[in-house]
Amino acid sequence: MTEKKLLKRTVYCGKINEAFVDRTITVYGWVNKKRELGGLTFIDLRDREGILQVVINENFAAPQIIKKIGIEYVLSVTGNVVLRSNPNPDMYTGKVELVAEEIEILAESRVPPFFPESRTDVSDELRFKYRYIDLRSQRMQGNFRIRSQATLKARNYLDRCGFLDIETPMMTKSTPEGARDYLVPSRIYKGRMFALPQSPQLFKQLFMISGFERYYQIVKCFRDEDLRADRQPEFTQIDIEMSFAEQAELFEIIEGLVKEIFSVTGKVVQTGFRVMPYHEAMDKYGSDKPDLRIPFEINDFTEAARKFNSNILNSIIENNGKIKGLVFPESVKYSRKVLDNLNNYVREIGGKGVIWMKNTENGFKSSLKIEPAVMEAFYKENGIDFNDIVFLIGDSLEQALFLAGKIRERLGEPFMDKEKLEFLWVVDFPLFFYNEEEQRLDSNHHPFTSPRLEEMDKLVIEPTAVKAIAYDLVLNGVEIGGGSRRINDFNLQKKIFRLLRLTDEEAEEKFGFFLNALKYGAPPHLGIALGLDRIIMLLTGEDSIREVIAFPKTTSSLCLLTGSPSQVPGGQLDELGIRLK
Ligand code: AMO
Repeated sequence: MTEKKLLKRTVYCGKINEAFVDRTITVYGWVNKKRELGGLTFIDLRDREGILQVVINENFAAPQIIKKIGIEYVLSVTGNVVLRSNPNPDMYTGKVELVAEEIEILAESRVPPFFPESRTDVSDELRFKYRYIDLRSQRMQGNFRIRSQATLKARNYLDRCGFLDIETPMMTKSTPEGARDYLVPSRIYKGRMFALPQSPQLFKQLFMISGFERYYQIVKCFRDEDLRADRQPEFTQIDIEMSFAEQAELFEIIEGLVKEIFSVTGKVVQTGFRVMPYHEAMDKYGSDKPDLRIPFEINDFTEAARKFNSNILNSIIENNGKIKGLVFPESVKYSRKVLDNLNNYVREIGGKGVIWMKNTENGFKSSLKIEPAVMEAFYKENGIDFNDIVFLIGDSLEQALFLAGKIRERLGEPFMDKEKLEFLWVVDFPLFFYNEEEQRLDSNHHPFTSPRLEEMDKLVIEPTAVKAIAYDLVLNGVEIGGGSRRINDFNLQKKIFRLLRLTDEEAEEKFGFFLNALKYGAPPHLGIALGLDRIIMLLTGEDSIREVIAFPKTTSSLCLLTGSPSQVPGGQLDELGIRLK
């Protein structure tokens, strides 16, 4: 079959500058804008590298084509590059323009539902339904270029560090990471299901048992969980596992990896990240992923609050509760409205409200009935500046820390340097938490995480006090990775399953293949998975991972582009032995 011949492109639109002046070139692109001005027609032609102004003047040989050209038409334009009389300093190509000599329409376009570069007035629904148009924007093109460069850097770096890229199956058995599974029914074995992996956790551990020593994979994971700005049902991890290594060595490798990835946008990452135990993070910031760009910590005012003589606070303290507080500068900035909104916010997220106190022109005031002299003394005793505002939360320890942490994040934003990269390793997580709903222990990370050796004897008597050899990597308040040392001992792994109330039969049914492998020479190993989408989100300055995933799902797990999930013909269900309720 013969192909239609295209004029050979000289260069991308977005790459043209003064160096091309007086040259005759051919470019391809989409019509971003078209306007007529005093007998001249200007077309902004857009390709993946940028936008170039094309001008069609009275010497153009085929003027009949001009009328035909519409927005988002695909053109091939040949012409001469000249200097512009009115340069546009905001564009790379802004000093030049292309005087068209020959234009060919390569594809027509209907009037698009929106213009790629004017997305501010476009709803997300429309953007995701016509994602291929949305992706034409310079911003989206930039995001995916950064993503591509970042993964390339990651691969090269990990390869240099001796990691092998090995694929793990997508149709497999459930790997618990705390979410529901996406299931794939088997046609041949009716009633049986494959699960899409929540992570390659067990397979990468098997790789260690297989002797690969260092594995990585840039891999899709699937989790059926409530979605948020930084969660998608289908997302990508840089998944890593290594044998015969210490936690410190893994930290060093990962810090180097992160440094390498961030160099894509010219950002310089200082390695030697801060390390903070989980308990300290909770105590100071009320969060296991604190944003260290906010320069304030949570204080404990439980003892000090006794002096306020408040029935409400006293009763909280008597019931084993705590009074946690935050001190923010410039109390004058907190109007009644701001304070009321804050109070409402705290109630919305499950608190009873927030108490504030500040020094005004008319003396100390508070939302709680406290003597002004008592407040003054409190400020002095605690070294609080008289211009500062104090917020107090009284509740159970966990709830008070959680709420104070949320206030810190909400009010802290204006105080942080947005350009800063605050990396933090949070370590020593509790191995288990108590699942109130199911009245049993649950793993904080996953059940393959090793307890700290010196705490082994607490496993049975006080399991919730046992710390894990587990770590999260946090950047600016976002958890960008998590991992742990793994249990490589069959008996310990069985013991953990029992503590999680998994009977030996259930453990065998779910993880028999893995338990068996632990009997055949499992070396000491540890690993981590980084959330690639979250890292790229932070790298590109986006506020949702949807902006760095080509075809994302909505927050209600729909793909608006394809209309999936969709119903399937009855025959297909019959074949699978499935009848819908
Ligand atoms: P974890 O569940 O902590 O660990 O996941 C690792 C990292 O993956 C990212 N992540 C997500 N990103 C987008 N959408 C989601 N729904 C989502 N869920 C997780 C986060 C997170 O830090 N197998 C273990 C790792 C290990 O122990 O080696 C695991 O998957 O950035």
